[in-house]
Amino acid sequence: MDARDLLTIGDVARRSGFPPSALRFYEREGLLRTTRTPGGQRRYERSTLRRLAFIRAARTIGVSLDEVRAGLDRLPDGRTPTKADWTRLSKAWRGRLDEQIDALVALRDGLDSCIGCGCLSLARCRLSNPDDRVAANGPGARMFPALLRRGEQ
Ligand code: FES
Repeated sequence: MDARDLLTIGDVARRSGFPPSALRFYEREGLLRTTRTPGGQRRYERSTLRRLAFIRAARTIGVSLDEVRAGLDRLPDGRTPTKADWTRLSKAWRGRLDEQIDALVALRDGLDSCIGCGCLSLARCRLSNPDDRVAANGPGARMFPALLRRGEQ
């Protein structure tokens, strides 16, 4: 790759919105690849910006760093990922993202409805959860999808 096409850490920080410390951290975590100048300075391929956008989006919706790394590891090493490469990644993530979308929809729609949490505070609870019968299924808001109940136990 022509050195003129490579970006400095400052370029990437400005364009991606990530501070240089985060770029170095993601490199240490194996999420980013860099080359070095003879003087030891990092240089980034422009495709790094797409990786960073992907990292931020995934982290924003609660995807773990390990999952992000597993996803990015599906991309080719040493060449700029093509649309086909990203399509393969999105297919691998479709189930994960659909689960997330369903959870967000359930949260949005559940805010004014009975969520089976045991409070019996809404008129709707008397119909949807009389005498808190869903408690027999376990703790937490039993009408929320599993993703929204994760970590309660
Ligand atoms: S909202 Fe809590 S039991 Fe219905």
